[in-house]
Amino acid sequence: MERLAIQGGNPLRGIVRIGGAKNAALPIMAACLAVEGRTTLRNVPDLTDVRTLSDVLTRLGLKVTRDVDNHLTIEEGGGPRSQVADYELVRQMRASVCVLGPLLGRYGEARVALPGGCQIGHRPLDLHLKGLEALGASIRIEHGDIIASATKLRGTTIDLAGPRGSTVTGTCNLMTAAVFAEGETVIEHAAREPEVCDLAEFLRDCGAIINGHGTETIRIAGSAPLYGTDYAIIPDRIEAATFMTAVAATGGAARIEGLRLDHLESVLEWAAAAGINVKPAGPDAIHVAGGGALKACDFAARPYPGIPTDVQAQLSAILCTAPGTSVVVDTVFPDRFLHVPELQRMGAKIERDGNRIRITGVSRLSGTAVRATDLRASAALVIAGLAAEGTTVIDDLPHLDRGYEHLDRKLRSLGAKVARVSAEL
Ligand code: EPU
Repeated sequence: MERLAIQGGNPLRGIVRIGGAKNAALPIMAACLAVEGRTTLRNVPDLTDVRTLSDVLTRLGLKVTRDVDNHLTIEEGGGPRSQVADYELVRQMRASVCVLGPLLGRYGEARVALPGGCQIGHRPLDLHLKGLEALGASIRIEHGDIIASATKLRGTTIDLAGPRGSTVTGTCNLMTAAVFAEGETVIEHAAREPEVCDLAEFLRDCGAIINGHGTETIRIAGSAPLYGTDYAIIPDRIEAATFMTAVAATGGAARIEGLRLDHLESVLEWAAAAGINVKPAGPDAIHVAGGGALKACDFAARPYPGIPTDVQAQLSAILCTAPGTSVVVDTVFPDRFLHVPELQRMGAKIERDGNRIRITGVSRLSGTAVRATDLRASAALVIAGLAAEGTTVIDDLPHLDRGYEHLDRKLRSLGAKVARVSAEL
């Protein structure tokens, strides 16, 4: 097992390029189950989650090949076709549930293991299942698996309003299944995230008739079959926001390029209010200049176009050294605060009350051994470690590798003193 050793206090400087969005790539890869022929996906990040989903797709009968330019070719493999995604793979990655809609839509049946517990809190699938039932599927849970079947799916109106807003992967599952339904499906309270729009654009490229994505009402006309295409995944807005925060936390100055400014509006607005000097630098880049005075700045993580829950931990990390008191609320995942006890070990002053934390800025964090307990909590600890005095050693790296492509390599290219070390050292 490896650890990440970070020598804090080095301002990050230079240029870094953002990769493809994990949360767009995963549902689009899964949707390839619903597509005939060969698909080439460009800008697919090289991540553990992508490799795990590639394994799931391979077991379901697809052939998945990656080339050096982050292109993934996905085609029917000629091997045995299956509609069963088993627990061994699904438990490694919740996003495997994205195979449910494509399998059910195209083949009329799917058996997908329930993913089980999750570090960031309770994550039910009731909205996915309710929506598939509304389309005419019969669903039962047996031996830990979701078993879905349908002789014919029929277009209908599905309301995805849940207690904490809509559902991102639920919208993806329903959109893909609905392509195979007879007639029109209307998804009300659909998730508006750019990653959902990317899937809609991909499906349109494959021949689907989908409109309204990016708004709360998506309309899908039954339009199967779908045919393979050549498609480039959108840039990862969460990776971009993570680098922006890392640069600012170290007082460095860097150009972050290959991103979509329109996907980052709420984050950039918040950053300006928090005293981070960040400016657009061309159509697909920002320039971040740290070194100014950080300011305490409240925020609530909300569904898009709000500040994403996937950057809540990283923004909280930089607020640990912003003078004054900041209140941070996570309205999407009320228990997503695994970074808090670890940041406290580094000297942060944070009090938690339910889905909110109150951060009182301290002048400096100090490096120590910490444990990364989920993907974004790990990113927050990297940011804290880069800014802290002394050495921070982060344990449990597989979480980080699930969702960040070559994070340590990219940070080193900006001058960070970051190294993977063996846990035995
Ligand atoms: N929810 C329900 N019922 C459902 C589904 C969701 O009540 O059937 C609740 C959840 O418990 C949560 C809220 O609705 O409180 C939103 O959950 P959502 O379904 O939107 O999350 P997800 O689709 O499982 C995706 C991302 C997450 C990201 C969330 C929120 C992927 C593969 N995952 O998860 O990404 O945090 O949307 O934006 O797209 C990450 O990348 O670190 C990550 C966790």
